[in-house]
Amino acid sequence: MQHIREVVATEFDAVNSLILEQLHSDVGLVENIGHYIIDAGGKRLRPLLSLLCAGASGEIGARHIQLATVIEFIHTATLLHDDVVDFSTLRRGLPTANAKWGSAPSVLVGDFLYSRAFQMLVTIGDMPLMGLLSDTTNTVAEGEVLQLVRAGNADADADTYFNVIQNKTAVLFAAACSGAALLNNSDLSGSLYDYGMNLGMAFQLIDDVLDYEGDPAETGKNIGDDLNEGKATLPLIYAMENASPAESDLIRHAITAKDASNLKDVVRIVQACGALDYTRKTAAEYSGDALSALISLRASKYHQALLDLSKLALTRTK
Ligand code: IPE
Ligand code: IPE
Ligand code: MG
Ligand code: MG
Repeated sequence: MQHIREVVATEFDAVNSLILEQLHSDVGLVENIGHYIIDAGGKRLRPLLSLLCAGASGEIGARHIQLATVIEFIHTATLLHDDVVDFSTLRRGLPTANAKWGSAPSVLVGDFLYSRAFQMLVTIGDMPLMGLLSDTTNTVAEGEVLQLVRAGNADADADTYFNVIQNKTAVLFAAACSGAALLNNSDLSGSLYDYGMNLGMAFQLIDDVLDYEGDPAETGKNIGDDLNEGKATLPLIYAMENASPAESDLIRHAITAKDASNLKDVVRIVQACGALDYTRKTAAEYSGDALSALISLRASKYHQALLDLSKLALTRTK
């Protein structure tokens, strides 16, 4: 990741500065919670994608720095809201904002970040970009709601799962990539949209593997959050079809009861029946599609970094 960031080091620093500048609010609690989650770090993967795609499709200009900041604000808002609905207690290696301040402040500061992102978009002043990001934000919200209504449902099928992860995660990756090309009036915006979408799918599939076998010291998140919320992610869907009837029942019960008290057993089952391998393999197929989407790009350090990122999405441990 570090060598990829170095490709756009100056611009990346500018994004980090703009993020801090734009967190400004006269209301102390907004700044406290905003700084708390932003200062905790995070990979800044989506802004990185915007910068690399800007470079790959033309110049990296001031509006790309703003776009990258907008994307990270939208992402951060979804994390604040997501941790409330998932009852998560650990994020970026620290207690979640909801664990520290409660649900209401987390939701409201999430709203602040969403609306700040749209204020910045108005400053950028590009109507097609505004269209892309309003559609994207709306779809992310829909994805989270769809996931919520499927929670606790052990009959959820793989199609529903793919629909959820495309909406809640992959579309923002797609927008981060294609939005940068839009600002360059580049005809690569379609290819970069496909790249981002496939990368986002791979990224969420691996996130769902890490929810079972990640190391909290690395991911900064607890394992078992998905099981605790009764989320039928691909590892569980595969396991219910391929493990023994007794094991399948154990998983069905955990999903329906939204109960992670058998997490150890579930981890053992998803490992032993090949569910995590299958999920990684599926992620690798999406990563391959992301690579293929870059075929029409000319060779450059940005192009190379995008290729590297699609591989890194599979091997990441955080
Ligand atoms: C977490 O995203 C939410 C998902 C879509 C899986 P990241 O893993 O990019 O989170 P940070 O920003 O690095 O903390
Ligand atoms: C992430 O899904 C989706 C969004 C934040 C929109 P998860 O619920 O899997 O993300 P983590 O694991 O909490 O980061
Ligand atoms: Mg979550
Ligand atoms: Mg997760």
